[in-house]
Amino acid sequence: MSTNEPKNELGEAVAAIRRAIPDMKPRVGVILGSGLGAWADRLARSTTVPYDRIPGIPASTVVGHAGRLVYGLSGDVPVVALQGRVHTYEGHDLARAAFPARVLCALGCEVLIVTNAAGGIDATLTPGQIVVISDHLNLLGGSPLRGHNDDGLGPRFPDMTGAYSPRLRKVALAAGTQVGMNLREGIYAALPGPQYETPAEVRMIRGLGADLVGMSTVPEVIVARHMGKEVLGLSCVTNLAAGVTGEALSHDEVTETANAVSAQFMALLDAIVKDA
Ligand code: HPA
Repeated sequence: MSTNEPKNELGEAVAAIRRAIPDMKPRVGVILGSGLGAWADRLARSTTVPYDRIPGIPASTVVGHAGRLVYGLSGDVPVVALQGRVHTYEGHDLARAAFPARVLCALGCEVLIVTNAAGGIDATLTPGQIVVISDHLNLLGGSPLRGHNDDGLGPRFPDMTGAYSPRLRKVALAAGTQVGMNLREGIYAALPGPQYETPAEVRMIRGLGADLVGMSTVPEVIVARHMGKEVLGLSCVTNLAAGVTGEALSHDEVTETANAVSAQFMALLDAIVKDA
């Protein structure tokens, strides 16, 4: 049996959501990481669907992840957002972790925006800073595309050149200027976690070219590219990565920083979605 999720499961998830929100026509899908869930609460004319009513989307076990899908308008752009994501460290394989992203794409989104909290590897990054992801290193030890390929969804060997849309990166940088935030770009390395990295691991991935490190995003981006969608990735630097300052890392620090910048991050997302 392949570990890749079967298409009928995707069909069932989409059907369940369409039953709950029959007239949905989303242009942009957004996966909201730590501290950002509240963005979806501000969508106009919104409808929510809890994950337990969507076949194939597991409940999130991470504190601060609400576990529901929200459809509504950001400005005049129809958006479908996920409050809470699925991580591989919760025990899911990569295809399952990426399944919610597949669902957003299958609902008809042309653009997928993926947000996360990340550790800053480059010592010039500061906690609270938002970084536009320019590329990634998949260090998760596998691919969400492993197993049978459904040619109806995408090609066996998808191209990952320009995975992070050059157009959307420009939109994001311009939106940053509009809302008075000085954004920069960086390369995101995904490690499986849930333990934070060792200082030696951080030195290793710095040597490989990473600016940021986190435990999510990459599976979602891979399936969205598989399905031919345009992708934007945004990281909130919640802490400097292990060994950069010598301080110990804590999840509390991560959530505190993510919460502290969430208002600014939400304003940025509003400005990006308008032009996405
Ligand atoms: N490492 C991995 N994941 C993270 C970090 C980190 O330092 N900060 C937030 N998510």
